[in-house]
Amino acid sequence: MSRRSLMRGARFQPPDPRAIERYLLFFSSKELFWNPDMLPPIDSPHLFGDHLPLQLEIGCGTADFLCALALENPGTNFVGVDVSSKPLFKAIRTAEAHALPNIKFIKGDFKRMYPLLAADALQAVYLHFPDPHMRQRFRKRRVVSPGFLDEINRALAPGGRLSITTDHHEFFLEMLDVVEQDVRFAKTHAERYLIGFEAGTKSQFQRIWERHGLPTLRVELQKAHRPPSCLNASEDPGHSSSPTCLGHSACH
Ligand SMILES: C[S@@+](CC[C@H](N)C(=O)[O-])C[C@H]1O[C@@H](n2cnc3c(N)ncnc32)[C@H](O)[C@@H]1O
Repeated sequence: MSRRSLMRGARFQPPDPRAIERYLLFFSSKELFWNPDMLPPIDSPHLFGDHLPLQLEIGCGTADFLCALALENPGTNFVGVDVSSKPLFKAIRTAEAHALPNIKFIKGDFKRMYPLLAADALQAVYLHFPDPHMRQRFRKRRVVSPGFLDEINRALAPGGRLSITTDHHEFFLEMLDVVEQDVRFAKTHAERYLIGFEAGTKSQFQRIWERHGLPTLRVELQKAHRPPSCLNASEDPGHSSSPTCLGHSACH
């Protein structure tokens, strides 16, 4: 079965309108392009009206993984973004079934949401089983790129984590090449990457690909507490002219 047909054949019943109102925000591409200032920033105060830590899943799909995290961690907020309504319907039904107060979903294209990412607002970001887009002409649709890492680095709080998983070996190695070139992140594990991911609740796509015998490949990165090239920032005011300084705003 092709990757695309997996979701096409799935049936999703629309949730109750009150649940949609409670759990779903809709950010249209038009608004994101023309009026991003009219949309709420992606942080706990604007989405939840509190200051709890916030975790984000990009392309959350049916959000089985994220809803389970929200259920297990009532002291943390969670937001799932997906460009497609169908899986989000199921995500909302799950959140409603558990009356989860600490999760919300945003329907929209994450790549257009960069201006809404508040600085240092995220404790963790999950990019689990993103679409591989292996064909040359569709590669620009991929999420992971140096520009994506710039935005995630800005949005993560110091010490915050970025987790990337997929079943697709070639795609994974290509993503790994991109993230390994970014010195602002350090792996949280000694291995080049991890094979297998024992999440308390597995996502829909992790379950599907494991049923097909494909193990989950994973890399987990942590944002440095201080940029590695700027460890002498306070002692050496001239450090920003160092060839290793990446031009962090903190250094200027
Ligand atoms: C293969 S599914 C994985 C879903 C889920 N993370 C899981 O593990 O079951 C990829 C999801 O990413 C979503 N997606 C793809 N591009 C996106 C984008 N630019 N912004 C938001 N969601 C996107 C798709 O709609 C789809 O639901």
